[in-house]
Amino acid sequence: MAVLQHITSQEAIDLENKYGAQNYHPLPVVLSRGEGVFVWDVEGKKYYDFLSAYSAVNQGHCHPKIINALKNQAENLTLTSRAFYNDMLGKYEKFATEFFGFDKLLPMNTGAEAVETALKLARKWGYEKKGIPANKAKIIVCQNNFHGRTISIISASNDPVATENFGPFTPGMLSIRYNDIAALAEALKDEHVAAFMVEPIQGEAGVYVPDENYIKEAFELCKSKNVLFIADEVQTGIARTGRLLASCGNCSCSDKNCSGVPDVKPDVLILGKAISGGVFPVSAVLANNDIMEVIRPGNHGSTFGGNPLACAVAIAALEVVKEENLAENAFQLGELFRSEMQKLVAETDLVRLVRGKGLLNAIVINDTEDSSTAWNICVALKDNGLLAKPTHGNIIRFAPPLVMTKEELLDCISIIRKTILQFKA
Ligand SMILES: Cc1ncc(COP(=O)(O)O)c(C=O)c1O
Repeated sequence: MAVLQHITSQEAIDLENKYGAQNYHPLPVVLSRGEGVFVWDVEGKKYYDFLSAYSAVNQGHCHPKIINALKNQAENLTLTSRAFYNDMLGKYEKFATEFFGFDKLLPMNTGAEAVETALKLARKWGYEKKGIPANKAKIIVCQNNFHGRTISIISASNDPVATENFGPFTPGMLSIRYNDIAALAEALKDEHVAAFMVEPIQGEAGVYVPDENYIKEAFELCKSKNVLFIADEVQTGIARTGRLLASCGNCSCSDKNCSGVPDVKPDVLILGKAISGGVFPVSAVLANNDIMEVIRPGNHGSTFGGNPLACAVAIAALEVVKEENLAENAFQLGELFRSEMQKLVAETDLVRLVRGKGLLNAIVINDTEDSSTAWNICVALKDNGLLAKPTHGNIIRFAPPLVMTKEELLDCISIIRKTILQFKA
């Protein structure tokens, strides 16, 4: 078979099964085109995308402005490495630091790389600024976190599927309960703590929204102990939760629900996914000068980090977020979505609860031990034209592109309602 010849869904699935490492368990649908909130499979069937590549495609599939930026830049210069300056990186760094209200940005590619970068930055700051004795620095993390897949990051994980038989692990991680201020206060008694790294909402774990004041109180506790507060907003950032950042009211936010005064301004902000609208792997770590200045030439880097193509794409993707009021749209549609799902909770025993913020939501299914009900509901949703996927067993995450209209969301709600009310195990 010629590699680029048209193939059926089954042929594509067979090829992946035969030639690909089996590190994912995808829903059986093979996509070949996307536009806005829609994707099409190779047979031409149209679906609502209700996952957005795990919140990377917030701006919608193949957004024309972002794709044009990609095409224009691709015709001029794609990669220089950081051995030389390029004419896009500085422009992007100025744009993004002003956008998020920080002094400096360190460009990387994937979310996990940005998390690794933040961990290195925090350790180095801990030794050079806080005075932690050599090799004693600790990072506090939360149980059930998801920060990525590298060895150091899974050293902070308590998920057996992610960690089993991958040891030995990186030392220096202190794990506490999420949404537990007393546990954080206790852990902060350790003077060797350099940073607390937290997701403002635990997305991958099943969209766990902490108590309203948790992030603010955690931030203030960290400040009182001279410990860096690192917000991992790889999934929650870029308007997904109805704010530019879930940890903010960031004051540079165009969101009209934002108070204008940030409750929490993380010391270190980690972004990925939607910073490029899902068009290209772009991630970033942002911090102010007093923290970022500990990184000197040779301490850290990436051949592709800060490449001109990534810079052009990210500027366009962030402009779309503001121009199209995506935070406001996510806020309004999220309220509607949860109130409609709440009705479903009242109507059927199959759905136990709904939770989330903005357009990052989940429903919890009354499931069998093996969580096959949630999986089968997702297969039925697919058959009815909407793509979503369980996360951690009986939880179905719903995270559509933020460019969705109210009419489209109501259509999706009716598909979800019909599928669940007609569902027979
Ligand atoms: C909160 C969070 N951090 C980090 C990552 C890792 O990002 P990537 O898959 O781009 O490495 C993810 C991915 O889902 C995430 O949700």
